[in-house]
Amino acid sequence: MTTPTPIGIHDLELATTHYVVTLDDLASHNGTDPAKYRLGLGQDQMSFPAPDEDIITMGAAAAAPLLERNGTEGIRTLIFATESGVDQSKAAGVSAHRLLGLPSDVRVVEFKQACYGGTAALQAAIGMVSRTPNERVLIISSDVARYELDSPGEPTQGAGAVAMLVSASPALLEIEPIAGLFTDDVDDFWRPNDSSTAVVDGALSVSAYLDALTGAWDNLQAQGGPALDEIDRLLYHQPFTKMAKKGQAHLAAYVGSELDVTLPGEAASGGRDTGLALGTLYNRRLGNTYTASLFAGLASLLHQDDSLEGKRIGLFSYGSGSVSEFITATVQPGYFDSSRAARFYAELDARVPLDIDHYRELHATELSSATDVVTPRVSTSQYRFAGISGQARQYERVDQAA
Ligand code: COA
Repeated sequence: MTTPTPIGIHDLELATTHYVVTLDDLASHNGTDPAKYRLGLGQDQMSFPAPDEDIITMGAAAAAPLLERNGTEGIRTLIFATESGVDQSKAAGVSAHRLLGLPSDVRVVEFKQACYGGTAALQAAIGMVSRTPNERVLIISSDVARYELDSPGEPTQGAGAVAMLVSASPALLEIEPIAGLFTDDVDDFWRPNDSSTAVVDGALSVSAYLDALTGAWDNLQAQGGPALDEIDRLLYHQPFTKMAKKGQAHLAAYVGSELDVTLPGEAASGGRDTGLALGTLYNRRLGNTYTASLFAGLASLLHQDDSLEGKRIGLFSYGSGSVSEFITATVQPGYFDSSRAARFYAELDARVPLDIDHYRELHATELSSATDVVTPRVSTSQYRFAGISGQARQYERVDQAA
């Protein structure tokens, strides 16, 4: 019997927005204790898009360095996962495909199921590569998380994109074949077609997430997946980083295991260290990035822990509504690149602080497809949402702009 070729994530990159809102500023505006955001939610900042940025510009910005490093040969599929789509019909990835200069013989499609879409894309990509191992699949997970101003969800907004290249014999992570699945029709979070902000029942979304975690875990076990003590690191979808802590505590109690649940700024809890805190460091500065959130956590861990060769990581993906999946992966030799974390922290540090008045003004701005508009050049990104013309969104590469 031959061993199947390993398939998984060969390379991964992140991108975020031009602006950042500091949650201490939001707390002071709201008359809230800043500790509620820093410790109660585990969030310090939230990325916020400039008028000439959106999921497509962030997605292209994440994918461009990936393509520079790895070339485009063999990429015949681009899956764009998002829950903040900008069109009801055209896949966001088609615009990204042009911005990135990809060839025409690429199939492009958009995946949607709340924050779970990126994981669905990963499984679809693995299926495609297992059928045609010389092909590679580009996945872009990109989202702008928006809630109503002055709502409980407001401090958990954020924005960002992760691009991943899925291939045979991957350099970073082999995704193991057994997965735990859990689907349950629940109205915890959704965005109606006529609303630019999500509708959320916060308390229900937290309990639905925890129920889904144990549901997916049980299914992983039923399918013959690894026991908890055979998983070295654990990552969770992070709508706010405290949710990863809640998930870890819930899973540990459910399985009857002692796991460390300490986040930055907290007193050490004791228990086995599974990389919980390291996997939250990027997310506490990005805010919620919906489909990208779990993979931003993965990047945070892989960039900052140099001891993972041969180790197994468990990843829990949750998408409200709800669909969730628990997958496991093994870290490949030579995965660690000490320059990656410094580069991404430099990108986070380079964001321009947005004062609360300006943030609220931008948040309240809604573009209508019925009105032509040219957006001002604000972001320094190579990719730009240039405005609306004839009801169609316009995108340009800055080096190719007329
Ligand atoms: N210092 C430290 N912690 C504080 C605090 C303070 N001064 N004041 C409050 N907190 C803590 C609370 O004890 C609570 O902690 P706990 O969850 O461990 O009990 C936490 O801050 C949140 O406060 P709470 O008042 O319970 O909730 P909220 O009304 O602010 O709403 C969410 C929190 C997450 C429900 C809300 O942000 C939301 O709806 N987010 C969007 C949906 C979402 O992300 N869902 C997650 C699953 S997908």
